[in-house]
Amino acid sequence: MKEVRIFAPASVANVSCGFDVLGFCLDPVGDEMVIRRVKEKGVRITKIEGENLPKEVEKNVAGVAVLAYLSEHPCESGFEIEIYKKIKPGSGIGSSSASAAGAVFGVNHLVDHPLSRKEIVKYAMAGESLASGAPHADNVAPVILGGFTLVRSISPLDIVQLPSPKDLFATLVHPKIELKTADARAILKQSVPLKNAIQQWGNLASFVSALYTEDYDLLSRCMIDEIIEPYRSKLIPEFTAIRKAAIDAGALGSGISGSGPSIFALSKGKKTAQKVADAMAAEISNLPIEHEVFVSKINMEGIKILTQL
Ligand code: HSE
Repeated sequence: MKEVRIFAPASVANVSCGFDVLGFCLDPVGDEMVIRRVKEKGVRITKIEGENLPKEVEKNVAGVAVLAYLSEHPCESGFEIEIYKKIKPGSGIGSSSASAAGAVFGVNHLVDHPLSRKEIVKYAMAGESLASGAPHADNVAPVILGGFTLVRSISPLDIVQLPSPKDLFATLVHPKIELKTADARAILKQSVPLKNAIQQWGNLASFVSALYTEDYDLLSRCMIDEIIEPYRSKLIPEFTAIRKAAIDAGALGSGISGSGPSIFALSKGKKTAQKVADAMAAEISNLPIEHEVFVSKINMEGIKILTQL
């Protein structure tokens, strides 16, 4: 096999109560990438369409992720990467994760899968480190594995795949302003009051339980973030009003998607998720900011192969 074209989906990290550990995979939005195995050794990014991103391998999250993979799994051939970017960088729905995860997935596929999907998360994380200055796997894990994932530890890397209740749908609103993850991390406090930590781990543990038991009411009670959201919400115009609009329209909960500025909501049923989308869109329309709104099922598949030669 010489070439593979893949779809690398967008994702939502943190999911209110699971900063840096919880995430899920989205369905309709994602990048396409072509990874090609060539004779000449090394890694080259030969094409980027849709966004103005660096083609230098060491400066590109996809390039860095593949270099990390090849440093531990050397290969006689080289690789060319084409990136057709659909996820806007700095949107909060895992733009860098999709590129990093897609590139590593493609290379691993072309060299006959020496590693499992779970094992390649580690290399995709190298791309995340470049993008945000801090290694975290809460976007790359759901992109690669699909569904909801929990990062128990990044060193050693330990990822837990979680189930998703079948009627759970996500609504996403993307205000078209760029918010760099590194900047959204820089404003966070390095210590957390014990009472907030207790609340957060109570919510996170209950959220995981609710996924298993399909307990939508419990899920709804858990979607609170008293640690990160109070700081980051200040960076997102009308966050509180948009979140309230989602909940008033019937969402189980709503919060910042990843490091923002996108805002997500979870709902029971596609119809409610669409109603929530309309309400969030109406609220954000009051602002002079271009935006996009979409509804997504929870993508249980993660990265998928479109064609291969
Ligand atoms: N957990 C990360 C953060 C996700 O919120 O900073 C964004 O990459």
